[in-house]
Amino acid sequence: MSKIIIRRENYTDEKDIYDIYHNAFPTDDEARVVEYLCQQEKSYSAWVAEYGKYVVAHIVYTKLKIAGFDDLTDVYGLAPMAVLPQYQGKGIGSVLVPESLKKLKEIGAKAVFVLGHKDFYPRFGFRKAIKQGFYYKDFGFSESFFLLELNPNYLKGASAEVIYKPVFDNL
Ligand SMILES: CC(C)(COP(=O)(O)OP(=O)(O)OC[C@H]1O[C@@H](n2cnc3c(N)ncnc32)[C@H](O)[C@@H]1OP(=O)(O)O)[C@@H](O)C(=O)NCCC(=O)NCCS
Repeated sequence: MSKIIIRRENYTDEKDIYDIYHNAFPTDDEARVVEYLCQQEKSYSAWVAEYGKYVVAHIVYTKLKIAGFDDLTDVYGLAPMAVLPQYQGKGIGSVLVPESLKKLKEIGAKAVFVLGHKDFYPRFGFRKAIKQGFYYKDFGFSESFFLLELNPNYLKGASAEVIYKPVFDNL
């Protein structure tokens, strides 16, 4: 098995990253979000996974707002993320998620939310966000909206709606 290398995305990855999203999702919505973030949004953090010298996976974190708690500025959302289909199920996502979270914590993240597969994200420590009173848009997403606290005291006392950047509205 080739070694999986996790590193920051850079400008030479652009085409590979778009290919990953075009192929991993049924529509181009995620690819368009990533394109927008790359071109317009300065405050996001992203990593790629290299496998056998190919860039085969990508993960993005953007800052989120907690309604009514403007001082909570170190909260991120994990989205989107994808592995090129022919490389899925090989453990690459399971390396990319925890490795990128470790690096995100090093640059100051205190908490991370994700709206995603309920059998995938809990294995990295994510728990249902609604248990601590956090929700996305309306309570209809509660079964698949998760929170990982990187600093357990940071969100204490806050429980409210979690607001993503407008570019995510159509996902
Ligand atoms: C979900 C995804 C990121 C996982 O990455 P991966 O490299 O394939 O995952 P790994 O090989 O590390 O782990 C595979 C595990 O993820 C689980 N998984 C993969 N896709 C899943 C899905 N759609 N729903 C639930 N679990 C899923 C598998 O059941 C598998 O579990 P197992 O270890 O018990 O067999 C990847 O499959 C992918 O890009 N899918 C398409 C795009 C997508 O759904 N992105 C995430 C949006 S939240």
